[in-house]
Amino acid sequence: MLTSEHITTWIRKSADEMRDNRGYLTELDAAIGDADHGNNMDRGYKAVLEKLPDDNDVGAILKAVAMALISKVGGAAGPLYGTMFLQAANALKGKEALSSEDVELLLKSSVDGIVMRGKAHAGEKTILDSLIPAHEAYKEARAAGAELIACLDAATHAAEEGMKATIPMIATKGRASYLGERSRDHQDPGATSTYLIIKTLYEAASEGDAT
Ligand SMILES: Nc1ncnc2c1ncn2[C@@H]1O[C@H](COP(=O)(O)OP(=O)(O)O)[C@@H](O)[C@H]1O
Ligand SMILES: [Mg+2]
Repeated sequence: MLTSEHITTWIRKSADEMRDNRGYLTELDAAIGDADHGNNMDRGYKAVLEKLPDDNDVGAILKAVAMALISKVGGAAGPLYGTMFLQAANALKGKEALSSEDVELLLKSSVDGIVMRGKAHAGEKTILDSLIPAHEAYKEARAAGAELIACLDAATHAAEEGMKATIPMIATKGRASYLGERSRDHQDPGATSTYLIIKTLYEAASEGDAT
């Protein structure tokens, strides 16, 4: 189970990663966008930390994350990640701990939120290219009988592979799509921040001895 404490730790770890990778994410965005993704994510997660509620309801925590991101992050990423956390919050409303099945629902509703807001598909060089593989790897690992932490480990590896697989893609959604062919040979910034978000979920679970 992942407790509300694991979830809070996850969000704090994500904020640390966004701070530490602010320059890296911005550099990636400088190549195919407008050089603000690192600043957007760091500013957003700083706002999230200020709004993190002391609540045992995982849905309430995720909703607070969503609201902070929507209100503080301009550009594409704020509404996208905001909707992602809002969908997850709705799916997990009232739960004080997440079973392995609930975590699968967290990932599935996250994918649904991004699709709902951004109308992209796999292969368009976006957030979805690391998020969809993460959800699928988690689902497969769980179906094969793996424990929660092992499922998250599989999801993290899949997110990383998905992130790297955006390098040869041509962007057809978002700002990078204006570049057409010239968006090729660059790693997508949003797929990269999503990898960090999945990785920190795994770390929060494994360091917090989730069972
Ligand atoms: N329609 C979309 N669906 C999913 N992700 C998207 C979409 N459009 C853009 N993105 C993601 O947003 C990232 C850019 O975020 P950011 O730089 O913060 O916003 P902006 O493009 O407005 O400057 C891209 O790298 C891409 O992964
Ligand atoms: Mg940008």
